[in-house]
Amino acid sequence: MERRVFAYSVVSTGSFDDVGVVSTEIKRDLEEAGVERETVRRVAVICFEAEMNLALYTERGGNIEVVVEPEKVVIYVEDDGPGIEDVEKAMQPGYSTAPLWVHELGFGAGMGLPNMKENSDFFELTSEVGKGTKIHSVVFRRRENAA
Ligand SMILES: Nc1ncnc2c1ncn2[C@@H]1O[C@H](COP(=O)(O)OP(=O)(O)OP(=O)(O)O)[C@@H](O)[C@H]1O
Ligand SMILES: [Mg+2]
Repeated sequence: MERRVFAYSVVSTGSFDDVGVVSTEIKRDLEEAGVERETVRRVAVICFEAEMNLALYTERGGNIEVVVEPEKVVIYVEDDGPGIEDVEKAMQPGYSTAPLWVHELGFGAGMGLPNMKENSDFFELTSEVGKGTKIHSVVFRRRENAA
């Protein structure tokens, strides 16, 4: 399989109504591109958590780019939202600034970023307050487990 680049934009609407639309599309695109099931699953988890955070913490949303290569899938997430002051803290399981209404809907456990890291073979989050946040994630493909 040659290298394939998929680009998506996530529009933040200030509600949960559309969360999951983009990650569902990503899942379908990867399946159609012939990516094995376990890799698709991990990429979909990472992209879903990213999509959710874009919806919750940015005014305008952001972009997700997924690059499928023979040995790996690379995910880039970028937004020009408020940024994260203390990245190390934000990465800790259980840390959340989600508002009450989000907690009342059963989200905001502070597990999104740890979950993204857990499902990645490489994970890097860089952020600048007032500028935005970038995520670079890599999932190695494991063909021996191909579905
Ligand atoms: N793109 C972003 N821009 C600004 N802040 C962010 C962004 N993504 C995450 N954060 C901050 O990092 C915190 C931790 O994020 P994480 O996804 O781990 O948990 P959560 O969104 O609060 O809860 P959960 O993902 O479990 O529903 C968030 O509460 C928020 O303060
Ligand atoms: Mg989250």
